Amino acid sequence: MDSKAFINEQIAEIKKTVGKGIAINALSGGVDSSVVTLLGHRALGKQMKTFFVDNALMRAGEPQRIVRLFADLGIPVQNVDARQEFLAALKGISDPEKKRQAITDTFYAKVFVRLVHETKAHFLMHGTILTDIEETVAGIKRQHNILSQLGIKPEEAYGYAVLEPLKTLRKDGVRAVAAELGLPPEIARRMPFPGPALAARIVGDVTEEKLDLVRRATAVVEEELAECGAFQYLAVLLNDYATGIRNNKREFGRIIVVRCIESTDARTATVTRLPWEKLEKICRRITDIPGVNRCLYDLTPKPPATVEYV
Ligand code: XMP
Repeated sequence: MDSKAFINEQIAEIKKTVGKGIAINALSGGVDSSVVTLLGHRALGKQMKTFFVDNALMRAGEPQRIVRLFADLGIPVQNVDARQEFLAALKGISDPEKKRQAITDTFYAKVFVRLVHETKAHFLMHGTILTDIEETVAGIKRQHNILSQLGIKPEEAYGYAVLEPLKTLRKDGVRAVAAELGLPPEIARRMPFPGPALAARIVGDVTEEKLDLVRRATAVVEEELAECGAFQYLAVLLNDYATGIRNNKREFGRIIVVRCIESTDARTATVTRLPWEKLEKICRRITDIPGVNRCLYDLTPKPPATVEYV
């Protein structure tokens, strides 16, 4: 694929479709939505409005970091505090698909509808890529950003049209376009992170307390493995407790799973053979998090496991 030609084609297409109207998009800080943000702003200038939706499920410090990074690129991003809305929608839901559904519904039927209304936009630009479509159509997983492939007509259902400029690309293509657009390597090369965010890494229902634990464990794993070169690494909170002993007292504590994989496109994956010393250090730091007394390393490839737990 010729990235330059792709960029020019998409900019022309976006201009033609949106005309004199307004388009909005939600930026998560991942490479897909970052590329959509840049394409949209190059095509539409002030007619393009970008929002960072804080859904309470993001990694530590993420909203501030992403807004600042795009400000440095000259792109204004507005932070939308939707934390309570998402937490309320997820309350008490344990079933994985229902959790994903609750997040989808809150994004599309609530937050986006409100933003579209406030900005008078007719278009929502989305970073759906080819792999999202293929996996959803194949019934492997309900990706949260697929609508038309599931027979949902966003214009009828929500009152706005969805533009998906990246739907013919896979991740490697998106990364090439990101580099060509001048996005910094920390975005262009950023490892994948799921749309349902930390909710995909909490087995069982999502609460603020569990989010806090998995967020802290994620920060440890990302810091310790930043230089390891693996395709993706993450922390997961299980929905269970294990007996442990601390300060000579028996305690019932949380269990964190660490996962680190090698892959080219996330359709299959093998487990990284991390050095034992590194695993021991991660285990030590994770069990220092109050309330956590076990840390496990997941040895399961994909298949039979998926990358995420939800
Ligand atoms: P699984 O868990 O299906 O993950 O083996 C494959 C890759 O996709 C990411 N992932 C998602 N990405 N929305 C996304 O944008 C989602 O709903 C979603 N679910 C999983 C996952 O992190 C891995 O890289």
